[in-house]
Amino acid sequence: MRIYREKDYDAMSRRAATIIAAQIVAKPDCVLGLATGSSPVGTYKNLVAWNKQGDISFKEVRSVNLDEYYGLSGDHDQSYRYFMQTNLFDHVDIVPENTNVPNGLAQDPAAEGERYEALVASLGYADLQLLGMGRNGHIGFNEPCGEFPLITHLVDLTESTIEANARFFASADDVPKQALSMGIGTIMKARKILVVVSGEDKADAVAKAVQGPITPEVPASILQLHPDVTIVGDEAALSGLK
Ligand code: F6R
Repeated sequence: MRIYREKDYDAMSRRAATIIAAQIVAKPDCVLGLATGSSPVGTYKNLVAWNKQGDISFKEVRSVNLDEYYGLSGDHDQSYRYFMQTNLFDHVDIVPENTNVPNGLAQDPAAEGERYEALVASLGYADLQLLGMGRNGHIGFNEPCGEFPLITHLVDLTESTIEANARFFASADDVPKQALSMGIGTIMKARKILVVVSGEDKADAVAKAVQGPITPEVPASILQLHPDVTIVGDEAALSGLK
């Protein structure tokens, strides 16, 4: 596991973007696993700027997103499809058909989980999977629980996650209570994993994930078993590491 300690969010974002850009340059038709939330916004801004300058191209890139709220359509302004369009896809030369996000309106979420898992498998899984980390150590929407979920599945969000995400909605009551998420198994099949973490409220989760026991009660702790993980954090998020 490599850890980059950056002084603040902007430096974290630049560092993470350079790692993704290097992946695209090395393999222009790579499969990028992408995340939403506040952590990767700055990373995407850098990638958009470098694409506009002509330094990197997404023309051959395929993307698979980690997750989507269940019950939200792709044009709902809090859906993860909408987030990806507005933060990245609409501003770079990626081919829209090459972008994939679970369908939050699927009638049968179990079938949608299987479809999405098969799709990610058919692409050969991610060359590079970008992750944020929840305050409770979740990755994707794999919440603390008794076992590591393997494949894309429907998740009941925990109170902690609903509370954390309420800042994007009118109230906590408006936050969807379920999401479709890649499983831990799906994430671990990525060849490289890049985690971006910022802010003091992540310090405890980061410390447990990196230095604590490997347990599904801290889903990100499984990353200790992956052979190629890079964590890029600001000083506050890494302040709990010994
Ligand atoms: C987003 C995702 C989540 C977030 C995590 C951190 O696609 O899967 O695991 O990465 O909740 O969110 P932020 O970055 O908003 O703190």
